[in-house]
Amino acid sequence: MVSTIALGADHAGYGLKEALKAWLINYGYQVLDLGTHSTDSVDYPDYAALVAESVVDHKVERGLLICGTGIGMAMAANKVPGVRAALCADLYTARMSREHNDANVLVLGGRLMGADMGADILKAWLETDFAGGRHARRVDKIADIERRHAGDRSGEVAPRRPARSP
Ligand code: RB5
Repeated sequence: MVSTIALGADHAGYGLKEALKAWLINYGYQVLDLGTHSTDSVDYPDYAALVAESVVDHKVERGLLICGTGIGMAMAANKVPGVRAALCADLYTARMSREHNDANVLVLGGRLMGADMGADILKAWLETDFAGGRHARRVDKIADIERRHAGDRSGEVAPRRPARSP
């Protein structure tokens, strides 16, 4: 049973983060709120990194990230090796992201849903177990890709063009 969860949001996700933080505390979860703490404009990758790193450093069991669409947070969090961040907008994808993909970070779009929908998705995500079996083999292959590309192309804009010979 999951008990600790890190939260991160930008200005567009701040309102939903606050609502879901209250929901989590009410249901007995321990929350690590890594910001942001107002609707002042901030950059979503800063919060994606904080939450993603707290998950892979085992400070918490799971992470929740919220920006306007969820897209930028998901892109940024998935750059951290070991993070499997899933952008979910409904109950089915929330359950499947746990059952099939063993997602350790849930990403929501704060401009796409209200607090009740967000809480329903979060509840389903927290309460669904990874199915393992053939899905474990596939998740292991995600880690294989990370290992193959570790230190490779870091900071570059993909696709990389081949170097020209002098
Ligand atoms: C902020 O305006 C917005 O770009 C951000 O919250 C997010 O939706 C990015 O993916």
